[in-house]
This record gives sequence, C-alpha cells and structure tokens, in this order.
Amino acid sequence: MAITTDIDGAVQLLQNSGLVALPTETVYGLGANAMDAIAIAKVFKTKNRPSFDPLIVHVASIDQAHKVAELNEAALELFERFSPGPLTLVLPKKDSVPDIVTSGHSTVAIRIPDHPMTLKVIRKSHLCIAAPSANPFGYTSPTTAAHVQEQLGGKIDAILDGGPCGVGLESTILDLSGVPRVLRLGGLALEELEPVLGILEVQTSSSNPNAPGMLSAHYNPGARVRLFSNKKELIDSYYAVDNSKTGVLIMGQGLEGLAIFNLSESENIIEAASRLFTGLRILSAKGYTEIWAHKLPDKGLGRAINDRLIRAAN
Ligand code: TXA
Ligand code: MG
Repeated sequence: MAITTDIDGAVQLLQNSGLVALPTETVYGLGANAMDAIAIAKVFKTKNRPSFDPLIVHVASIDQAHKVAELNEAALELFERFSPGPLTLVLPKKDSVPDIVTSGHSTVAIRIPDHPMTLKVIRKSHLCIAAPSANPFGYTSPTTAAHVQEQLGGKIDAILDGGPCGVGLESTILDLSGVPRVLRLGGLALEELEPVLGILEVQTSSSNPNAPGMLSAHYNPGARVRLFSNKKELIDSYYAVDNSKTGVLIMGQGLEGLAIFNLSESENIIEAASRLFTGLRILSAKGYTEIWAHKLPDKGLGRAINDRLIRAAN
C-alpha cells in the first residue's frame, strides 16, 4: 500500500481491523487496534513474530493509559515528567487488554509516543494502538516510511509518513510491576531516570523471561556486523586487511570514503543515535558483506547504541 499523510484514512483503517505503520519519535511502529484480537493476530503474522513476544500499547494521554494499565505513583510521576517521549512502562494490565497483546502476561507495556501525527490518529480514533517496530522479526527497526515500505510494503494497509524519526532508537523499557528494572536500554537515558528512581537494575539479557523480545540476535541489517571495542582498534584493523567488502560505521574523524558512514562528524550522541539504523541499512544496501562498527563510551545514549550494535553483531 502507498505511503500517505492522510490521518483520517489511517483512523478508518485502524477502526476496521487494518494494519497501519505509524511514525513515532523512536522508530516506525506497525499499528493495530489493541482491543481487536483479530487485528493483533495479523500484526504477529505480518512481522513473523513469535507469539511469546508481547506488544507495546500506545496511548495519547495518562487518562487513556488508565484504561489499559494499573498506574502506580512512580508510573504517574515518570509519565508526567517524560511523556510524550521514548519511555515504555510495564505495569499490571487491565482485563480489557486481550491476552494476545501481552502474550499471556499479567502485565502490559504502555507508552505515549511523541509524534503529532500518531497522537492525532490515537485521539481521533479513540483507540489504544498496539505497535511493535514495523520490521520483520529479527531485522533492523525502520526510521523512515521508505524503510517500512521496503520491508513490509506489500503486506500492510497503509504507511503514514511522518518524516524521519528524531530519536532513532526504540524506547527505554522500564518494568514497574515490581522492583523497578530496566528491560531495554533505549531513547531515554538511564541518567534521566535514575535521579527520579535511584540506581536502577538493568536486566536486558535474552535469558530474561520478563523481556521476551530481547533476543540476543536482533537488528540484522543483512550483512555481517563486527564490533570493535574502540575506534582505534577498528581503524588499525581496517588498514591491515583487504577491506574492499567492508563498510564502516564511525563516530567522528578517522576514516573517510564511500565505504564509511559517519554517525556524527561532531561526535554528537543524539545525532549518532538518530543515524544508527539508517547507517546499517545504507551500508548493507551498497553491497558490503561486512559492516564494522566500534563501541561508544558506555554512558547516556551510548549505552543503547552499544546494546543495538552488540545484538546486530550476534
Ligand atoms: O520505541 C518503541 O518502543 C517502538 C515504537 C514503535 O513505539 N516499539 C517497539 O516495539 O520497539 P517492539 O515490539 O519492537 O519491542 C517491544 C518490546 C519487546 O522486547 C517486548 O518483549 C517488550 O517490549 N514487552 C512488551 N510487553 C512486555 C511486557 N508485558 N513485559 C515485558 N516486556 C514487554
Ligand atoms: Mg522491534
């Protein structure tokens, strides 16, 4: 289906069990009515997503969040502070949410996305929208409407084009159903959350049954990804071997040329996050069979970027 900017058309499709890719500030989501089990079954099938991997429900306000989840005090405080924005909270679910959305868990993941078009769609439709990232399971998340078109275009009802995603990394997932735990590092840095909640446990390994979607092999861009522990190691190795089949993701100065994708020439971490998935896609599309990248300092958004690179390299 064609790429569109028709908000009313998107609303109509969603109200009739349709699947619509929606822009958010993090990545594009594959949206469907969260209360419509048939539409949700189509989401799993279209993505080829295992049924044990639950979806995030998107709402437009804290008021609407009350319809799907039991919000505790910490949840209210965090949503008031950071939403709309790249924060997903896991909370006890209300009975109204079909089990297929939460893969049978007694909790539901919810977030208020920071994109005017998608907020309009949610408000106009009066729906809560379940939306996983709009990519086939195991592949890189889309940050433009064209990325969605490439990977899912023939299989969904519409793609609402809201431009390139500003953040470019998926939301940070925080489980507040018990002792607070971070289940996925993402677009909201730990350094923002910890002043509110204290030092947080980070439990993002694939062995954690509470974050079933955090499989170690993920974010496959279609080329083999090799991750170096720092930029100097990458550059030294690049000159030491035949590098004709190798594309490079680099941060700042050091290498130049057609095979080099610079995440941010000025080493701006926000810019780097927003360009990461695009960089992986562009190098893969150019035909490089290997993509080399280096870790960034493990702080702020650097942590989430490293997490994605480690998974892509797995
Ligand atoms: O930024 C984002 O969060 C994007 C945009 C579209 O909102 N969405 C996204 O969805 O990344 P997805 O499906 O690709 O990742 C959702 C993650 C999965 O790892 C899933 O396991 C986890 O959220 N999740 C969902 N419900 C959960 C629950 N009840 N308990 C624990 N983890 C949950
Ligand atoms: Mg995903």
